[in-house]
Amino acid sequence: MDHNTYIPKLAKIIEIKEEVSGARAIKTFRTQFLEDNGFSHRSGQCAMLSVFGKGEAMISISSSPLEKDYLQFSILKMGRVTSALHETQVGDIIGIRGPYGNSFPIDKWKGKNLIFIGGGIGLAPLWSVLNTALGKKQDFGNLSLFYGARTSKDVVFKQELEELKNKMTVHLSIDVEEPDWKEYVGFVPLNILDKKPSPKNSITITCGPPIMIKFVIQNLQALGFKDEQIYTTVENKMKCGIGKCGRCNIGMHYVCKDGPVYSWAELKNLPQEY
Ligand SMILES: Cc1cc2nc3c(=O)[nH]c(=O)nc-3n(C[C@H](O)[C@H](O)[C@H](O)COP(=O)(O)OP(=O)(O)OC[C@H]3O[C@@H](n4cnc5c(N)ncnc54)[C@H](O)[C@@H]3O)c2cc1C
Ligand code: FES
Repeated sequence: MDHNTYIPKLAKIIEIKEEVSGARAIKTFRTQFLEDNGFSHRSGQCAMLSVFGKGEAMISISSSPLEKDYLQFSILKMGRVTSALHETQVGDIIGIRGPYGNSFPIDKWKGKNLIFIGGGIGLAPLWSVLNTALGKKQDFGNLSLFYGARTSKDVVFKQELEELKNKMTVHLSIDVEEPDWKEYVGFVPLNILDKKPSPKNSITITCGPPIMIKFVIQNLQALGFKDEQIYTTVENKMKCGIGKCGRCNIGMHYVCKDGPVYSWAELKNLPQEY
């Protein structure tokens, strides 16, 4: 067989950054393929990462397609594969297959205000589309970000978020008060009700824990956002990534092919299997 879609391409880890330590550790990995293979992604797509001898895990590509020098992934340590990824060192070789799934329809959003809403590791899939929009800032209206984490220690991309404040409006939050925290205290959906972003000519893109997404959508609707103005991602468990194994289904939908990006107008009509 000269082409087997399950065989990953080899990539070298060129940089590892520890974002969050402790029980819910998060690391950001930058990788480069050993050989040019034409891999090219769109914002919102994922890739299957493999640690040889351990297995594979589906991870969102957190770098923008505008970034040509590396592919970036931010990974929460969960189980077998993600723990093995956290043990890798700069210079190690991993496998990457993909890219998989649909993408954010950013070309349809030209001229609109974009409101990014993330929680926890959910900033990773947002980071790609956010940086793509920033790279083409003249194509859009106002850009803003709401991002929340459980505590200040759980905030990812800390330095990048500080730099981002010079380029767009950034509303940060943590769940519970801390002595040195100067920004909002409370859950992300409450921060949205507090700041009241306008639905006029706006699109919102939200990624995070399902419970956060549920209340973010409720609160956006209360502020007047229509279902077509709200986009999110679904992270059902995946195995093949190519619509063959049936692991990721929502009804007749294969999230690995038809998702992971959905507007709420599409998602609300699908069975609640996510
Ligand atoms: C489209 C998509 C994009 C994703 N993007 C990212 C990302 O950018 N960064 C990131 O850190 N993670 C991401 N994930 C989640 C990641 O794929 C899982 O955390 C990973 O597969 C866990 O693998 P593991 O072998 O380490 O854990 P396992 O040993 O397989 O599982 C450990 C525990 O996690 C649970 N678990 C595993 N996968 C999932 C899942 N998808 N949903 C809910 N529970 C799960 C298991 O049931 C088990 O309790 C994404 C998943 C999908 C489907
Ligand atoms: S992961 Fe196999 S069909 Fe989607």
